[in-house]
Amino acid sequence: MQSQGQPVHTQTAAYHLAKDRLELIESRIRELQASEIPLIQDVATYLLSNGGKRLRPALVALCAKACGYKGDADIDLGVIVEFIHTASLVHDDIVDDAVKRRGSEPANRVWGNQLAVLFGDFLYARSLALSVSLGKLRLVEVLTEATSRLVEGEMLDVLHNGNAKLDIATYMDIIDRKTASLFAGSATAAGVLAEVGPEEEAALATFGHDIGVAFQLIDDLLDYAADQDRLGKQVGADLREGKMTYPLIHLLENGTEDERATALQALGDPEATGDGLQQVVAAMRRVGSFDATRDVAIRYAEQARTALAVLPASEARDALCELPDFIVTRGH
Ligand code: IPE
Ligand code: IPE
Ligand code: MG
Ligand code: MG
Ligand code: MG
Repeated sequence: MQSQGQPVHTQTAAYHLAKDRLELIESRIRELQASEIPLIQDVATYLLSNGGKRLRPALVALCAKACGYKGDADIDLGVIVEFIHTASLVHDDIVDDAVKRRGSEPANRVWGNQLAVLFGDFLYARSLALSVSLGKLRLVEVLTEATSRLVEGEMLDVLHNGNAKLDIATYMDIIDRKTASLFAGSATAAGVLAEVGPEEEAALATFGHDIGVAFQLIDDLLDYAADQDRLGKQVGADLREGKMTYPLIHLLENGTEDERATALQALGDPEATGDGLQQVVAAMRRVGSFDATRDVAIRYAEQARTALAVLPASEARDALCELPDFIVTRGH
């Protein structure tokens, strides 16, 4: 059984410190997913009660605390970023034709693409309404900018599907947009709530961005190397979907002719499971593609921690310092 359903990581100081806020965020999610349309309620319950690490809400809660925020709006902000994230996953599973999400079938496999697209739209609209209700224009600006960049990244990702010539710089630009933008937006928005100055706001943006980049690098590594049950998603999905991610780019740059040929043949092949996938994974291990991917993630994780020096020392800042480590060592 995968460990989905456990928010963040129950062993980390970050989790313990954010626990009370995360519980309030969960209750608020249940209130705010309500709709007069029973179908919306069903899809929302299916998706939002089905686990997820709640990493972005935890980031919001801890950044707000580290900035000395004493109000309650971090709860709604946590819900907003989780709604944006969930909407992006619902749409991502459609464009990626995913088979599994959080250990279950993706929403589009249960309700079909038409309703899943519209449910994603509903969540984006709810998150926008909620961010407006917090009464700070700057907050709306930060969150809509992050969402636009996320969608740009997802579009570029689709555009480059099957492009075996994709280089590292373009890959980094894509993950910067599709993933790091929401981490950066979540951390920055927490700072905006706490009314921090421009220096702290920039530090939070850098911290969120850098852990976001590390996060996607590890996601791309886990796509090949994770225990499938623990991951809650199918292993090898990126290869079958034609996704050029860091481990694959590294293999194509460093593998033998045969290894390159095997990988290129499997790229975009929906049948690349079992042996075909195992050969690619073995080649990646041989040339060190996983270590290379993890090394870049670790560099970003270290850089992220440095950015926190601008914030005053506190328990919350210490907890934030743990997040990069959790991100690079996680198994799901
Ligand atoms: C998955 O994000 C999508 C990516 C940005 C790689 P998470 O791994 O945070 O998804 P959940 O919410 O825990 O399921
Ligand atoms: C998706 O990246 C990032 C999003 C912005 C949704 P992936 O396509 O790698 O995410 P998973 O692996 O399906 O969760
Ligand atoms: Mg996907
Ligand atoms: Mg995707
Ligand atoms: Mg992935």
